[in-house]
Amino acid sequence: MSEISPFVKWAGGKGQLLEELIQRFPHEYNNYFEPFVGGGALLFGAQPHNAFINDINQQLINVYKQLQNDAKTVLDIITNLDKENCDKEVYLSKRTQFNEKISNNIFDAECAALFIWINKHAFNGLYRVNKQGLYNVPYNNKKGGRSCIPNNILGIGEYLKNVSISCLDFEEFCKNVQKGDFVYFDSPYVPVSTTADFTSYTKEDFKLEDHQRLANLFKNLDKKGAYVMLSNNDVELVRDLYAGYSFTSLEVKRLINRNANDRVGKEVIITNY
Ligand SMILES: C[S@@+](CC[C@H](N)C(=O)[O-])C[C@H]1O[C@@H](n2cnc3c(N)ncnc32)[C@H](O)[C@@H]1O
Repeated sequence: MSEISPFVKWAGGKGQLLEELIQRFPHEYNNYFEPFVGGGALLFGAQPHNAFINDINQQLINVYKQLQNDAKTVLDIITNLDKENCDKEVYLSKRTQFNEKISNNIFDAECAALFIWINKHAFNGLYRVNKQGLYNVPYNNKKGGRSCIPNNILGIGEYLKNVSISCLDFEEFCKNVQKGDFVYFDSPYVPVSTTADFTSYTKEDFKLEDHQRLANLFKNLDKKGAYVMLSNNDVELVRDLYAGYSFTSLEVKRLINRNANDRVGKEVIITNY
């Protein structure tokens, strides 16, 4: 198994919790399901067998699919993009090109390469879209640097050859989970400081009702006989939703957070086993 790591910086990337999460894998399981794969820190760190991955972000999932299909082509396009020195004008023109693909529903290798390139040049590596679904993150003002490590991209492509990839809502995706399977949930977090508008929606549009839906699914999968592991912020709502399950609380530093006070916090790993 070759060493691979995320091809993007992603909000909620599991870098620091990685070892803790890997240690908690069940000793034996049939299939591995990751409904909120995001940057795939755990997926690439553990490289589980019989993996099924999913995310609702179509552009992100296109990158996984293109790398699975032909990582070399994606790598060649990124290498070409990296030949040009980046400045604000170049960044904005690539962002426009990427948005044209989104508007025209074009999911191809170039779109995947642009996704990886833009992630390296966007402010804080954020992925944020406007109401029309167009990517609107500003330039990070860092000129140079490669957008990827070639062997990492090729290694990811190799690993993904045996992975099943989908783009569904998490509940739909988990309909295929059977007794003896292992599911890891890393949904968008419950905010640390719960603001009054949280009940309507969060910045990631993962609402309170989605967290409730997720907790119900966790319980149903538990009843079904699957192994279930979940990470989230260590806040009261999470403690309430998963009361009765096994909790481990850990201190973490957060990379992507506008509020400096929220950059250190506690997260929980919850398991039903
Ligand atoms: C916290 S991130 C996952 C982080 C990831 N484990 C990593 O290591 O980078 C949450 C992910 O959930 C996805 N997501 C949000 N709502 C979803 C839904 N209803 N169903 C499936 N995925 C969803 C987002 O696109 C995002 O990539």
